[in-house]
Amino acid sequence: MSHPDRFMLAGVMGWPVMHSRSPRLHNYWFERYGLAGTYVPLAIKPEGLEKALRALPALGFAGCNLTIPHKEQALRIVDHADDRAKRIGAISCVTVNPDGSLTGTNNDWYGFVENLREAFPGWRGDAGPAVVIGAGGASRAVVDALIHEGATEIRLINRTRARAQSLADALGGPVTVLDWDQRHSALEGAALLVNATSQGMVGNPPLDLSLNALPRTAAVCDIVYIPGETPLLKAARERGNRTVNGLGMLLHQGRPAWRSWFDREVEVTRELRALIEATI
Ligand code: ATR
Repeated sequence: MSHPDRFMLAGVMGWPVMHSRSPRLHNYWFERYGLAGTYVPLAIKPEGLEKALRALPALGFAGCNLTIPHKEQALRIVDHADDRAKRIGAISCVTVNPDGSLTGTNNDWYGFVENLREAFPGWRGDAGPAVVIGAGGASRAVVDALIHEGATEIRLINRTRARAQSLADALGGPVTVLDWDQRHSALEGAALLVNATSQGMVGNPPLDLSLNALPRTAAVCDIVYIPGETPLLKAARERGNRTVNGLGMLLHQGRPAWRSWFDREVEVTRELRALIEATI
């Protein structure tokens, strides 16, 4: 919670961190709402994470976001975490409490759902089978979100099947784990396809996935947003599917962070989206 006499301070801890678009995002909100505060990139090595998090109260930080590779380790450090964060096994946000203790939350699932709602008005989690490719940290938030949105069937596919299985075991819900070589045929009858792997991100090869079996009515979401249109999204768009990249997931997860850090509502505006897109 912010104090009237206090500079509003937050940041993102990562290693590396300078690629993060979060400072631009949050500093847009300070400017737009005419608030005295700032949001800084904090380059924190994994072995320094605990000390860095524990320093937040003394430095007057309201809290911070966490990015690669800190999301899992930070969950083990904070004093409190909500049930969803515990189930997902990672936190994306830390809030400093008045007594100096730290609360961790995972806002990635929220960003994922709001991104879909914004891109596909009327989107519902129970509209039909969802196919999720990938079983890393991002995938855990995506699958948890889909379970909470009432998904009736989630087909989960990962190159390393065992990782998908442990995700399914941890989250429960209507998750069916399929083999990597079943990924093409698994798209049959799907209402939603999500790429939650790093494939297609700048510097990585495209996701090796044939869309032939995917209904043209299906929505396709890539959690990658650099480039703005991954080869997967391009292929999906060209065959008539509705598509969205992962930028909105980043933008929307900032809203609950502001609620818990500063007790304020902030908006994801077109201007904000354009500002961040211009940096991609
Ligand atoms: P994040 O936290 O961003 O999800 P991660 O935990 O490293 O990152 O997960 C990366 C995901 O991309 C995993 O699902 C990974 O598959 P594995 O579990 O088999 O490693 C997937 N991935 C990475 N490289 C891949 C490749 N060449 N082909 C297919 N999937 C790949």
